[in-house]
Amino acid sequence: MDESVVKGTATQSGVDDARIKDLKAFDDTKAGVKGLIDAGVASLPRIFIRPPDELVEELNLGYSQAEVPVIDLSGIETDDQRKSILDELRQVSEEWGFFRVVNHGIPSSVLDGMIDGTCKFHEQDAELKKEYYSRDQFQKVRYESNIDLYRSGVANWRDTMTINLLYSNEVVPDELPEICRSSAMDYINHVTKLAETLFELLSEALGIKVDNLRAMECARGRTFVCHYYPACPEPDLTLGVSRHTDPAFLTILLQDHIGGLQFLHDNNWTDVPPIPGGLVVNIADLLQIVSNDKFKSREHRVIANRIGPRISVACFFIGVAVPEKIYYPAKELISDETPPVYREFTVGEYMSNFFSRPIDKSGLDHFKI
Ligand code: OGA
Ligand code: NI
Repeated sequence: MDESVVKGTATQSGVDDARIKDLKAFDDTKAGVKGLIDAGVASLPRIFIRPPDELVEELNLGYSQAEVPVIDLSGIETDDQRKSILDELRQVSEEWGFFRVVNHGIPSSVLDGMIDGTCKFHEQDAELKKEYYSRDQFQKVRYESNIDLYRSGVANWRDTMTINLLYSNEVVPDELPEICRSSAMDYINHVTKLAETLFELLSEALGIKVDNLRAMECARGRTFVCHYYPACPEPDLTLGVSRHTDPAFLTILLQDHIGGLQFLHDNNWTDVPPIPGGLVVNIADLLQIVSNDKFKSREHRVIANRIGPRISVACFFIGVAVPEKIYYPAKELISDETPPVYREFTVGEYMSNFFSRPIDKSGLDHFKI
């Protein structure tokens, strides 16, 4: 029998083969989307064009101009303020799952330094940058275009440099790219402290004292994904990041002034505009599991833009991967009325599932009871 018949219809397999060839050719350049722009590409290569079924699905969703909440963390050390911040955080985490924080204690110079360092990494000499190009999820620092390039139905218009502190939690300065070393060190230290504060508040907001998020060491394993979204010549045909939820307990996102991030709120795409000096925080998959669905991980995406580059840095706080630690829905949140929705898991198991699926497929189904 003809091999194409075994694989499916001859046309379908022809299309797939051509696509894989295109993906491989793009990947082999090790120059990412930025490389296409530098080469003068004026229309989108087909691997980036969103398929019709995705666009049809989109028709069920609306657009909302709702204002994403802003939580002011100033005065957190005084009892009165802390109590009102806590009430706000509880309500916002339950109803929105996405919010912005201001007066969070990280100086603007540190935020600007991280944006600038990320930009410099992506804009350095292409030959030097190529040395980091890799799809090895265990490598401490790597750069690639589209983490799920070979698994997704469509490629996104962005490149990413990743600093992976999940398997070895210490930041060793010499292991960071020199071009952004000191700014990344500063940002990593500051944002980790902010995460620890947020995890303390979130435990209190959830009402968990024994199985609390600090004891779970949620802020220990971290991954920093430093994105570069080049200006896009045909922004309506593609996305910067497809819709997804994050592989973490919590994400803290630093974005520059351009915007483009949207999250799904009551089935409406809702803009999350940047505020100078502010950061975006969102509940992610693992917190949904340990909170037993009390706080839900929210889908979000980034639209492509005619202007650019846009820079953003997402920090995923993923907990402890090594030595293996067992996580589960907090016992204090389990009762006859609220039985566990998820089984026990390890971060290693969650991550291996993450690296075997496209980012737009659920990371939670695998753990549902
Ligand atoms: C992510 C993400 C949003 C952004 O990295 O998971 O959603 O604005 N990034 O870059
Ligand atoms: Ni995300």
